[in-house]
Amino acid sequence: MEGSLLKGKKGIIFGALNEKSIAWQVALKAWQQGAQLVLTNSPVAVRMGSINELAEKTGSKVITADATKMEDIDNLLSGSMKIFGGQFDFILHSIGMSPNVRKDIPYEQTSYENMLKTFDISALSFHRILQTAYKLDAIKEWGSVVALSYVAAQRTLTGYNDMGDAKALLESIARSFGYIYGRDRKVRINTISQSPTPTTAGAGIHGFDSLVDFSERMSPLGNATAEECADYCVALFSDLTRKVTMQNLYHDGGFSSMGMSLKAIEQYKKSFEECDCDEKDKG
Ligand SMILES: NC(=O)c1ccc[n+]([C@@H]2O[C@H](COP(=O)([O-])OP(=O)(O)OC[C@H]3O[C@@H](n4cnc5c(N)ncnc54)[C@H](O)[C@@H]3O)[C@@H](O)[C@H]2O)c1
Repeated sequence: MEGSLLKGKKGIIFGALNEKSIAWQVALKAWQQGAQLVLTNSPVAVRMGSINELAEKTGSKVITADATKMEDIDNLLSGSMKIFGGQFDFILHSIGMSPNVRKDIPYEQTSYENMLKTFDISALSFHRILQTAYKLDAIKEWGSVVALSYVAAQRTLTGYNDMGDAKALLESIARSFGYIYGRDRKVRINTISQSPTPTTAGAGIHGFDSLVDFSERMSPLGNATAEECADYCVALFSDLTRKVTMQNLYHDGGFSSMGMSLKAIEQYKKSFEECDCDEKDKG
């Protein structure tokens, strides 16, 4: 859908690896709504992924940055200000990685090296970006910053490992920096808590297909797609949401408010009919 919700606005999109990436869809939708973009990803993702294809399509520049390196973030934000001719309007943080998830190491057996890496890439990178933007005064008044989160920040979901802790930290950083950036510069900061979505990062989660199926059955509106998430991001970058800040906004078809749905309970009951066992009676 083309439009002019972001006409004249400029922003940086982190995390478009390939066309399945949520960030890829956000870049496309933001561009279709008139935004000018700088795209960024880690050196390995720029090499292995297809971000240059997206850049060509949207007429964007690509600046490589490892989100765990302060000098890379500084270089990215100052370089973007040069490209944009000064301050810009929005940032999307769409970055997640856990060595434990990647190597299938259970939560209770993590090394602290792994756990720190998870937090550094998936959450502290958000602080790093905000701190640099604040220092450079890179974002215009009434600008908007969005990071992507997941309901495992509030509720334990089997298989999500230390990413649940990383998301809790990410959401807390959005509140802590949201206060400071709102108070001093009128910039808003929010997280969107998205449904499980079939992307490269998503597919790495242990039992991901079951998680998708379970949350589809539990959500009255069904799981939200990457494209739908992109629409929500565009709304948050637009001037229609200027007083929304420091919020964790669920974009999950209702999942986060559910306890049990008819669709899920019916499937659960079927599992007892199909097996000839007494699982039902076990605690
Ligand atoms: N897919 C899901 O089910 C789901 C659900 C809720 C939230 N999210 C969140 O959405 C965001 C985007 O993930 P996605 O699902 O689109 O998967 P994705 O794999 O397409 O995106 C993850 C991105 O993180 C980038 N990244 C990893 N390490 C980095 C580093 N050191 N520096 C810079 N970038 C780095 C990767 O290159 C990749 O582009 C993540 O924060 C993820 O946790 C995903």
